[in-house]
Amino acid sequence: MADISTRYLGLALKSPIIVGSSGLTSSVDRILELEECGAGAVVLKSIFEEEIAFEYEETLREASGSYNVEQFDYYDYQVKEDRLAKYVQLIQEAKKRAAIPVIASVNCTYSHEWAFFARRLEAAGADALELNMFFSPFDLSRSSAATEKLYIDIVEKVRAQVSIPIALKISYYFTNLASMIQRLSQSGISGMVLFNRSYSPDFEIDTCKVTSANVLSVPAELAIPLRWIAVMASRVDCDLAASTGIHDGKAVIKQILAGAKAVQVVSALYKNGTKRLQEMVDELQTWMIRNEYYALDQFRGKMSQAQSGDPAVYERVQFMKHFGGLQ
Ligand SMILES: Cc1cc2nc3c(=O)[nH]c(=O)nc-3n(C[C@H](O)[C@H](O)[C@H](O)COP(=O)(O)O)c2cc1C
Repeated sequence: MADISTRYLGLALKSPIIVGSSGLTSSVDRILELEECGAGAVVLKSIFEEEIAFEYEETLREASGSYNVEQFDYYDYQVKEDRLAKYVQLIQEAKKRAAIPVIASVNCTYSHEWAFFARRLEAAGADALELNMFFSPFDLSRSSAATEKLYIDIVEKVRAQVSIPIALKISYYFTNLASMIQRLSQSGISGMVLFNRSYSPDFEIDTCKVTSANVLSVPAELAIPLRWIAVMASRVDCDLAASTGIHDGKAVIKQILAGAKAVQVVSALYKNGTKRLQEMVDELQTWMIRNEYYALDQFRGKMSQAQSGDPAVYERVQFMKHFGGLQ
């Protein structure tokens, strides 16, 4: 058998396939099943500050009329603590029963809250922390420089508070994506996840209602993270994990060829069940043996832009006649 172990965020993973942040990892039984099927690690569903704030407002509404100013603080504290207690319990139980690393994930709206949550998740025993960071690119009043600074500032604040490895999961909505990925990779974090896939609205044209577009990805979505892992692999100072559109073993192989230390999968498991994980591991192993690779490092980055004989092809974007193949 080929050795498919890898190091990601300084953690030893038995396989490069991580189950990404989602409902798939929200119970210990599911985590154990994922481990059994070959997951190298799991990322827990994000604890969302926005969701907690929403619950807090609901609580206040239910108690309407019967609270005073002091109770505002009490409810805020109580709701946050209840949510955190559940999350902490999940981390602790998962750590007790599973052997694979457990990565906690957090998403905050207000910058001062990130470090608070990070400290609590580290204390709960998480092996690493994934910051699911996204600041609205719809805000006309904020410059791109100000948005970029927010990311850097928050990473600094969280780093000052925790000593476990930190990964940053981002979207590709940046003015100069390559420069931003590089700057973030030099901010003292251990890894970056390229890229998160955001919720998108869709329209129901007969009722003129807004609905949600495909919640799950399709394999064709691999192309964007594949290009960016390949382009950035040799230009960053941290590990890169690929996320979005990884639906089979071939996609895993492509991302490692591009230079990824690990990959994250979600939609493929929602669509095909946990057994898809085992199929991906098998496909990776079979391909490695057929190509006489016995460890991931033997082919990792072989198709990154830096090692490519034709680096320009990675930056080509226009469908000119010659490249598009269609007349
Ligand atoms: C149902 C569902 C829930 C998700 N929840 C989270 C979350 O809490 N935090 C997060 O960072 N990403 C979340 N994601 C995004 C996934 O982690 C992943 O980045 C995205 O689905 C792209 O990967 P895929 O193509 O393998 O699905 C969620 C995705 C799905 C489908």
